[in-house]
Amino acid sequence: MCTTTADHGGAKSWDEHVADLERLATSEGFTALRDEILALAELEPGDRVLDIGAGTGLLALAAAPSVSHVDAVDVSAEMCRHLSDKLARQPQPGNVAVHQGNATRLPIPDGSIDVVVSNYCFHHLSDPDKRRALDEVRRVLTPGGRLVFGDMMFRVGLASARDRAVIGSFAWRMLRRGPAGLLRLARTALRQLTGSRERPASVAWWRAALHDAGFEAIRAWPLDHEGGIAAGRIPR
Ligand SMILES: C[S@@+](CC[C@H](N)C(=O)[O-])C[C@H]1O[C@@H](n2cnc3c(N)ncnc32)[C@H](O)[C@@H]1O
Repeated sequence: MCTTTADHGGAKSWDEHVADLERLATSEGFTALRDEILALAELEPGDRVLDIGAGTGLLALAAAPSVSHVDAVDVSAEMCRHLSDKLARQPQPGNVAVHQGNATRLPIPDGSIDVVVSNYCFHHLSDPDKRRALDEVRRVLTPGGRLVFGDMMFRVGLASARDRAVIGSFAWRMLRRGPAGLLRLARTALRQLTGSRERPASVAWWRAALHDAGFEAIRAWPLDHEGGIAAGRIPR
C-alpha cells in the first residue's frame, strides 16, 4: 500500500531505474553505507523512523525490525510500487508505510518522527531544495530528534583538493573501461553541464546548512570515495 500526494517533480526520471537501484542497493558500497548510517542512528525499539528517498528500501527494510515504525518516502511512483510489492512479499514486521512524496514537502505530520535517515537522495536536489528538505526534516522531527544521512559529498569543480581527487579518480576509472567508460564520462559531464540529475554539495556546505536549519551536535565527514556522512539533532 502506497499513499501519494500531488508534489512529484523529478519523479519520472526515477521511474525507469528501479532495477538499477535494486542492483546498487545490493552492492558492497551501499550495504556498508547502510550499516554505517543505521549504526550512527542508534535506533531504539520505540523509535519512529523516516527514510527520505527510500528507493528500493535499503535503509527502511534494514531499520524496520529494530524500531516501532518506518515511513519510507520517495518521489518516484515506480520506486514506491516496487517497495510496496517487496513488503507484501517478504516476511517483515509489518511496520513500514510507503508514501510517494517530495523531500521538499514531506507527506508526514509535524513532530511525528524520532529519527530521519537518508542515503544518496539529497544530491538530486538543488541547493535551495536541499535547504527546504532540511527545514522539512526539522518540521517532522520530535524535539531532540536526529538526522543521519549518507550522500555524494563533493563540489563539481576543481576548487578543493578533495573535489579534484574525486573527479580525477572517477575520470580515471571510466577511461580505463575503454569506449563504454568514455561514453559514461561524456554523459556525466553533459549532465553536470546541463545541471540535471546530480548536484552534490560538499561536506562544508552540509555542515553550514545543518547549522542554518537549527540543528545541533552536527557532524559531517568525507568517506574514502565521493561520499560523505552527516548527522545532527534538533534541540529538545
Ligand atoms: C540513488 S537513489 C537511493 C535510494 C535508496 N536510498 C538507496 O540507498 O538505495 C535516490 C532515490 O531518491 C529518490 N528521490 C530523488 N529526488 C527525490 C525527492 N526530491 N524527494 C524524494 N525522493 C527523491 C529517487 O526516486 C531514488 O529512489
